[in-house]
Amino acid sequence: MGSLVFVAGARPNFMKVAPVLRALARRGRPFADVLVHTGQHYDFEMSGVFFEQLGIRAPDVSLEVGSASHGVQTGRIMASFEEYLATRDERPRGIVVVGDVNSTMACALVGAKLGISVAHVEAGLRSFDRAMPEEINRVVTDAVADLLLVSEPAGMANLTREGIAAERIRYVGNVMIDSLVEQLPAARALESAGRLGLGRGEYALVTLHRPSNVDDPARLGELVRFLGRLAARMPVVFPVHPRTQAKLVELGLHAQLEASPAIRLSPPLGYREFLGLMEGARVVVSDSGGIQEETTFLGIPCITLRTSTERPITVSHGTNMLVGEDLEAAWSAVERVSRGNRARAEPIDGWDGHAADRVVDALISAWR
Ligand code: UD1
Repeated sequence: MGSLVFVAGARPNFMKVAPVLRALARRGRPFADVLVHTGQHYDFEMSGVFFEQLGIRAPDVSLEVGSASHGVQTGRIMASFEEYLATRDERPRGIVVVGDVNSTMACALVGAKLGISVAHVEAGLRSFDRAMPEEINRVVTDAVADLLLVSEPAGMANLTREGIAAERIRYVGNVMIDSLVEQLPAARALESAGRLGLGRGEYALVTLHRPSNVDDPARLGELVRFLGRLAARMPVVFPVHPRTQAKLVELGLHAQLEASPAIRLSPPLGYREFLGLMEGARVVVSDSGGIQEETTFLGIPCITLRTSTERPITVSHGTNMLVGEDLEAAWSAVERVSRGNRARAEPIDGWDGHAADRVVDALISAWR
């Protein structure tokens, strides 16, 4: 039968791994599965709360690598993951990695070097911007993985153009949407917006954490001023990522945000709290990868503060407005959504709540 080793390390991995583990259990465990948490994210708000709410069992193995520079963090993950694989009695049938974080690439590389088959869930996405650490992670992971499980049509085109053989590629759809569909009723029941005294469609939800936005003091200062302008138009809910929090405090910008009564700052939120707030928002302003997809599925306008997206279907087929670095363009988008009705997104093939079943089908047909 053989066993599969699943890797999760950082916040955006957990909602992708959860539905696949559950689909395997539903199918009577065609493979034994082991869950490895690298510890890239370790705070309760960035990790534990997702295990709780998404019903993921405690990891079987915790590598506890923690935060560090990219080279050090990636190196630590590789060394610890290789060491773990060496302690096992049997060689796994395969390793499954998801998304595009450092843990994804590090564990894919270790598997490939040991000659263990690797499957990549969310393969083929490309922003074509190598200044994004995730882009390097995507390219490297796909180059060494044996089975490439694709979430949106652009992924198929990208992998084909890169010369990857068709038999290594399968279109499975978006496993993150499986988690969203499953958790939406519980998210609604929390009434997160109502608890903040906010009505449906009346507020903006903001997230920011990309190095390109938060590591440069001038850029972060401009963004804080933009949030002040936004808050004059509608209340702003801003759960702050630890990386962003540290920068805001360091630059004295945190006090500026706190001084505005229309800006509700909070620590990072749980999956359900955030999902509920997203569904009720007038607009989401973000630099996240996954939020572009979640807002498209929910039909909520999303202003993405990035120059490129690896998820082009959220722009062509969905609700995503990519405004680049230009905050005047972002403001025009705010004006448009303040006036307009809720955005409408076209249904996307495989974003249907059943992608994890197709992942399991692909794993069975490739590896059993
Ligand atoms: C990582 C991913 C990014 C993803 C994001 C979601 C990479 C290259 N980046 O970026 O793709 O969108 O996660 O959050 O893998 N920290 C804590 N507690 C934690 C984790 C981090 O305080 O639990 C702090 C540390 O000071 C750390 C900083 O946040 O240095 C950044 O964390 P890191 O994992 O390096 O990158 P993210 O910006 O979170």
